[in-house]
Amino acid sequence: MQVVSIISTKGGVGKTTTAANLGGFAADAGLRVLLLDLDVQPTLSSYFTLAARAPAGIYEMLAYNEQRPEQLVSHTVIERLDLVLSNDDRGELNTLLLHAPDGRLRLRHLLPTLAPRYDLLLIDTQGARSVLLEMAVLASNLALSPVTPEILAARELRRGTLQLIEDIAPYRHLGIEPPPLHLLINRVHPVSSNARLIQRALRQVFQGQSGVRVLDTDVPAIEAYPRAATRGLPVHRVEYRQPAGRAAPAALDTMRALASELFPAWQERFALVNGRGDAGGAGHGQRA
Ligand SMILES: Nc1ncnc2c1ncn2[C@@H]1O[C@H](COP(=O)(O)OP(=O)(O)OP(=O)(O)O)[C@@H](O)[C@H]1O
Ligand SMILES: [Mg+2]
Repeated sequence: MQVVSIISTKGGVGKTTTAANLGGFAADAGLRVLLLDLDVQPTLSSYFTLAARAPAGIYEMLAYNEQRPEQLVSHTVIERLDLVLSNDDRGELNTLLLHAPDGRLRLRHLLPTLAPRYDLLLIDTQGARSVLLEMAVLASNLALSPVTPEILAARELRRGTLQLIEDIAPYRHLGIEPPPLHLLINRVHPVSSNARLIQRALRQVFQGQSGVRVLDTDVPAIEAYPRAATRGLPVHRVEYRQPAGRAAPAALDTMRALASELFPAWQERFALVNGRGDAGGAGHGQRA
């Protein structure tokens, strides 16, 4: 099971959008995907319509160590796409985990029960530093951080991002390596900005920083993303063809490029995904 946390020290950069669309795309490629909503604001939890809502959610999972899938796991209407709902309405988890000796490792310790059931676990987080965020990163084999071009201009970016990696570094003494951090440039304006220039600038900011990589794939700012969210669909099903006269590629092509860059081992499955959600016979339900 691949575990990816989607993180940022800034809010509103596209974490939830990335989690929902990457999850929906991987599920349509035949992978078994679990979304974990760690944000107090349950945006990811309400992105997709639920086919079956579980009685419990993230609160019971982390506070009471609930592990029974029938209690914990809700099913979305997208086949193979499951969800653990955010239900920490009063925001208690953070304090609870802060004071628990195993707080930051709690999610990591729950992974063995999830691993046989899913190929991919995607963790959406809140746009601020917290124990929950550190817990998510410590459970991941990859951290993915969307960066918008405006934020690139902020001095805060390098400091905030590197501070997080530094803070979890002491866990090396417990044999836990901090995951590599991949930066995804999101919401690039197709007309006014040059994606290559932004990429180069971002690479310069993190030059010489081991463990940080700027992805080659960038995500254009297109109206298909909010439209897909409104319709509760993964964006590749909403825009599978490039609109005439637009420079930016179709959302389907962007999601395929992103998924393939993150998980090259599944590239062949990703190549088969189309806009209909049936992946043209990608071998549904099989293990990758
Ligand atoms: N590539 C894109 N093109 C156009 N709109 C986008 C794109 N990515 C995200 N958005 C829009 O930007 C808004 C913020 O995105 P999103 O909610 O995913 O951010 P977030 O990082 O999860 O925010 P928060 O920190 O509040 O959780 C949403 O309305 C979303 O539809
Ligand atoms: Mg969000």
